[in-house]
Amino acid sequence: MRKKIVAGNWKMNKSFEEADELISDIQDGLEKITLDRNTLLIVCPPFPYLEMASDYSSESYFLVGAQDVSANDNGAYTGEVSASMLQSMELPYCIVGHSERRAYHHETDELIARKVDQLLSHDIKPIMCCGEVLAEREAGQQFDVVRRQITDGLFHLDNDQIQNVVIAYEPVWAIGTGKTATPEQAQEIHAFIRQLLAEKYSAKVADTISILYGGSCKPSNARQLFANPDVDGGLIGGACLNADDFLAIAQSF
Ligand code: PGA
Repeated sequence: MRKKIVAGNWKMNKSFEEADELISDIQDGLEKITLDRNTLLIVCPPFPYLEMASDYSSESYFLVGAQDVSANDNGAYTGEVSASMLQSMELPYCIVGHSERRAYHHETDELIARKVDQLLSHDIKPIMCCGEVLAEREAGQQFDVVRRQITDGLFHLDNDQIQNVVIAYEPVWAIGTGKTATPEQAQEIHAFIRQLLAEKYSAKVADTISILYGGSCKPSNARQLFANPDVDGGLIGGACLNADDFLAIAQSF
């Protein structure tokens, strides 16, 4: 059975002390609830807090991921963080291709494919984001955009590699806007992504890959979104900055 996943993308938020408080609240909260055994909870704080988060996670149920990685091997790349560094911290997951990086850092599908390769060759599972902007949705291009992002970002991988990837569908018009995709809109694209995976690999392989929804997901709408057969959880931005909300979402399956 494929994993249910709730991953919290903190983005560029929280001081060191606030980060400590949030992670410790998540740890305390996890002691009071029981998550389904098939559910993974992943916390993705900014780079400077990864070590602290990893320390907490060794005593708790959640896993830790980074928010981005360099497409290059170690070397003269000021300000970048390599996959081998993340591997040396034993981080199991890393987000790549988030729409904010595509928009503000001009990341292309080709660059994102290189980041995916870096992660997989260092035993880190990529959480690869895709999704259309509002103008593309209004022009009815969402399927073409997502097909291109998935094909160019992931379809060079072989049968085994693709099964170590998590996909996050995040319609850009829903990110941080309070506008959530309807459960029907989410299911439609998730089913489309799974179909693409089935055509490229096999139905069996497609069935093992977790596809998360992201974009203004919160405790009040998570249950309806996650109830869809192809929605395997969420990539959570704003709502993951509060431990109670994050944990409430994790219990929404
Ligand atoms: P949001 O962000 O939940 O604040 O909309 C989701 C994301 O960008 O991963």
